[in-house]
Amino acid sequence: MTLQSALAYAHEHQDRFLEELKALLRIPSISTLPDHADDIRRAAEWLADHMRAIGLEHVRVDPPAGHPVVVADWLHAPGRPTVLIYGHYDVQPVDPLDLWISDPFDPQVRDGNLYARGASDDKGPFFAHLKALEAYLRAAGTLPLNVKVLCEGEEEIGSAHLDAYVYAHAADLAADVVLISDTTILGPNQPSIVYGLRGLCYMEVEVTGPDHDLHSGQYGGAVHNPLQALCEMIAALHDAQGRVTIPGFYDKVRPLSNEERAEIARLPFNEERLKRETGVPKGWGEASYTIAERIGARPTLEVNGVIGGWTGPGSKTVIPAQALAKISMRLVADQDPDEIDRLFREHIQRIAPDTVRVDVRSLAHGAPALVDRHHPAMAAAARAYEAGFGARPVFTREGGSIPIVATFQKALGAPSVLMGLGLPDDRFHSPNEKFTLANFYRGIATIIHFHSLLAEGG
Ligand code: BES
Ligand code: ZN
Repeated sequence: MTLQSALAYAHEHQDRFLEELKALLRIPSISTLPDHADDIRRAAEWLADHMRAIGLEHVRVDPPAGHPVVVADWLHAPGRPTVLIYGHYDVQPVDPLDLWISDPFDPQVRDGNLYARGASDDKGPFFAHLKALEAYLRAAGTLPLNVKVLCEGEEEIGSAHLDAYVYAHAADLAADVVLISDTTILGPNQPSIVYGLRGLCYMEVEVTGPDHDLHSGQYGGAVHNPLQALCEMIAALHDAQGRVTIPGFYDKVRPLSNEERAEIARLPFNEERLKRETGVPKGWGEASYTIAERIGARPTLEVNGVIGGWTGPGSKTVIPAQALAKISMRLVADQDPDEIDRLFREHIQRIAPDTVRVDVRSLAHGAPALVDRHHPAMAAAARAYEAGFGARPVFTREGGSIPIVATFQKALGAPSVLMGLGLPDDRFHSPNEKFTLANFYRGIATIIHFHSLLAEGG
């Protein structure tokens, strides 16, 4: 009864749900840009008001050291399990702005897709959780289990302050299971449950040569160009087999079992699909691992950006005084971001030529996570997807990071069930990010089913 009335309510109110989500998407809550601090606060307050309106209790905007977290609960199902729902209301920057078909903060529906920054990562999927709770509370006046909600504003910059917050409030946040929709499923009709996420260690390398920019004719050939020195160092970070050359980098990597390799090999993910999704002419990566293994189960090193020298129109003959690279490493269990940070620094100083000065700085850190895919809550998630999407989900490891998942495991002893609602072509972090309305609505139904299945014991 409760389940059916909640599903019916969700179906009936789809249009209003969409309008509400658009209101949330209009707030440009970009966490990495200091100019958007007010928008961050506005998004947090908007969510807190919304959580109160749908009947959640003890709603609070808590300021840890960084951007605020929004917490709430509903705890009137004694003897039933407790689920902690986690999501993030912060979004990535929007550049390059001219590639957006419509304004990133003026949400528009085209061909069944809702376009906006944060539509799919992660405001839309997180909002689906609030709508599932509303459906139960408004239609049935109750939830089948106990619920706690935690929504943060620093996920896209590494959740630096949330760790301490979770440890400090471990008793308040205690739960049997954490439920998160901040990943992608394999396809519109192929749901997937993510049991592995990579970690991250993000560094900045600055190379300084002369104390001012030089005329390249006057001094070229006699001083080491910092931009060239930086490129030489970057080029030395991989070998010809696509392996990262930092000594000790792979030491803690948990090897894949034959059983898991066989499971991964059965997933519908191969080079053809990679080419289709990304537009590259050919795959690339660590020799002797498949594409799916490289993304989900192997650590990597990426150059995110290089800054230096003349990049304006036309030609300017100059040896720049400085060059900077933003380099990140995706990590897998059991690599430790602090240890990788140290190995990276030592290696960069080892390969730095003595013709320039090299400074290394640490940016975001996030731990990798592996969740037990045989946990009973995973079975509830699988059945919920079957009910909501009409297809049995597969289990995957994904390459992205959600740093707090490892902390939930350590601080609360709770596994995270990663029930994504995004699609691989939703363009996370990219212009024209979208969320398919079908997934929004099917997602709400799936979550409604999940709560009732978990309450019944998986
Ligand atoms: N939603 C993503 C994580 C994600 C993306 C998981 C794709 C699975 C597939 C999340 O919002 C994100 O982008 N996280 C950052 C975290 C980082 C800054 C520590 C990431 O992965 O770059
Ligand atoms: Zn993201």
